[in-house]
Amino acid sequence: MPQKLHAKRPNEPVRVWSAGCASGEEAYSVAMLLADAMGEQDYRQRVKIYATDVDEDALTTARPAVYTSKDISAVPERFAGYFEPANGRFAFRWSLRRGIIFGRHNLLEDAPISRVDLLICRNTLM
Ligand SMILES: C[S@@+](CC[C@H](N)C(=O)[O-])C[C@H]1O[C@@H](n2cnc3c(N)ncnc32)[C@H](O)[C@@H]1O
Repeated sequence: MPQKLHAKRPNEPVRVWSAGCASGEEAYSVAMLLADAMGEQDYRQRVKIYATDVDEDALTTARPAVYTSKDISAVPERFAGYFEPANGRFAFRWSLRRGIIFGRHNLLEDAPISRVDLLICRNTLM
């Protein structure tokens, strides 16, 4: 992330596309990495993460950003502050969540999202 960010001008937008985001973990993970590398204020001003999937049910799970303690057990301790307790589970903090835009998108049919700095599609093209 620091290397990618170094190539950008200060204040230039940073656009990420998580294609095949399923239940959102990939989008929230990249949000944490960017906020960590840029600082939260810079992240909030510059970052837009487009998180798309063909599966509406997966997007319905992803949008609220609420996970069980088991779901987030692999999140490194230094990122624990990006979550807050929510009725026995953990919600990804809204200050970072609001820069993530979820939407239905079929990679085989729909036009791609343009001008992205980083495209993530782990386990999607398979
Ligand atoms: C194994 S999951 C990967 C989720 C996430 N990228 C990760 O690594 O955690 C694959 C995802 O790709 C989505 N997918 C499959 N075909 C797709 C298509 N044609 N367009 C968009 N998403 C698709 C599925 O709905 C599923 O959520």
